[in-house]
Amino acid sequence: MAKHSTPISSRDGALKSPWQAGINPAHHTEKHAPGKVYDVVIIGAGITGLTAALLLQKAGKECLVVEAETPGFGTTGGTSAHINTFADTTYAEAQSAFGREGAKLFADAVNEGFALIKENINTYKIACDFEFKKGYVYAEDPEQVKQLDELCKGMLDVGLDCNYNEDIPVPVPHQAAVVMEKQAQFQPLKYLQGLEKAYLQAGGALLTHTRIESVKIENKIHLAKAGEQTFKAVKVIYATHVPPGITIFSFRCAPYRSYVLGVKLKDDNYPDALIYDLQEPYHYFRTHTIDNQKYLIVGGNDHKTGHDDPEKQFADLEKYVRKYYKVAEVGYKWSSQYYIPVDGFPYIGHIDGIYCATGFNGNGMMLGSISAKILADLILGKKSKYEKVFSPGRIKPVDGFSEFIKENADVAYHFVADRFGIHKSDSLKRLQPGTGKVVEIDGEKIAAYKDETGEIHALNPVCTHAGCIINWNGQEKSWDCPCHGARFDIDGKVLTGPATKDLLKINADEN
Ligand code: FES
Repeated sequence: MAKHSTPISSRDGALKSPWQAGINPAHHTEKHAPGKVYDVVIIGAGITGLTAALLLQKAGKECLVVEAETPGFGTTGGTSAHINTFADTTYAEAQSAFGREGAKLFADAVNEGFALIKENINTYKIACDFEFKKGYVYAEDPEQVKQLDELCKGMLDVGLDCNYNEDIPVPVPHQAAVVMEKQAQFQPLKYLQGLEKAYLQAGGALLTHTRIESVKIENKIHLAKAGEQTFKAVKVIYATHVPPGITIFSFRCAPYRSYVLGVKLKDDNYPDALIYDLQEPYHYFRTHTIDNQKYLIVGGNDHKTGHDDPEKQFADLEKYVRKYYKVAEVGYKWSSQYYIPVDGFPYIGHIDGIYCATGFNGNGMMLGSISAKILADLILGKKSKYEKVFSPGRIKPVDGFSEFIKENADVAYHFVADRFGIHKSDSLKRLQPGTGKVVEIDGEKIAAYKDETGEIHALNPVCTHAGCIINWNGQEKSWDCPCHGARFDIDGKVLTGPATKDLLKINADEN
């Protein structure tokens, strides 16, 4: 695996993405006057939070961004950084669920998100390896050919470019393919640093290493609490994917993990494009040059967080790459989290007194960016044509309900089955160093991790969000909750919301 010289930014797992190297982790300790009331407090410094903060600060609002770790710690630091005009919810699916007008608005949102990234790069002169590339989608069997036809027709229906093309730039046998001009790629953390710099230069305030635990409203002022500190604001944006607590998002967004490899090849067969297959889950390919070395970036094998074996997902992905490419070395492997909305459209807007944006599917770069614009417009009192269609409080017009039930049934299973000991018990002695497992001791479940020295790090395995039992992720060395995707490190510290409280530590010797 690639070695890094410091500095390196941190992210929400043990594995390193290629974007982290050379990024100076920001550590900001903004001194704020205790009584100060900001116009807007933005929680989370990923692409959504920092884009919104920059837009609002530039528009004259006094903003404070509060980040639990460092900018890009979450999904922005782990994305595979594809910038597309098409989306995981295809425009054909969007049309069947939300009508032609809904599909058109969705396409506009994706395109505006794309354009905003480009505009920020130009305006703030952000050097972030941005390059336009062609995008290809290909079908490997007759069923996929039908899907491809629908995908392409859906794009044409909303006014986007899509052309059939015989060849694809990956050595995979295929039956049909389409090409889309002017897709793009970039280095997401360099871009985020550019946004951060522009925001700070515009007078914005940023506070890192501060986890907001709750937000309440008193006399029309939001009080965001982090330990002993309270930050006051007229408006609050949660740019943390799903907001914390048990909210409607706990039932409307399902957390997924995607797996990515950065591979050096023995030959120079690196594709100069963004490429996607139509398998379920799909694979994606592109090339990125890091420190003068080309890497084939291949991803896929997505699954619901906490539900499958990450080791197997990586092994399968590597096997898949080796089938088609002469692999010299796997330089990087990492995984990242995203949220699939139950009806296919993101949730962006105002609900229960806060502004939030989530459910970006695998299209977080464009949808995170356009979310920031929509939220900024709403806060600035402007009209947004997207307000209704992406409203977090919307009632899904048609279809999708079965999917909603499926996700909830899944949640219900873990609430009941896990808590009553359906999983087999195990003993601490059988744990291998460097691994973790939920084991049962004297009738009590504990989440135990044995480190390389043999020391046990034991935790209460009951997720602090809503009580599901966590599962071990041996690749990212984290405890992942199968219900709504909260993640914790080996000492129980929150890595990913919606949980805001750490897992309770248990003295392993006493059990
Ligand atoms: Fe909701 Fe764990 S994330 S119960």
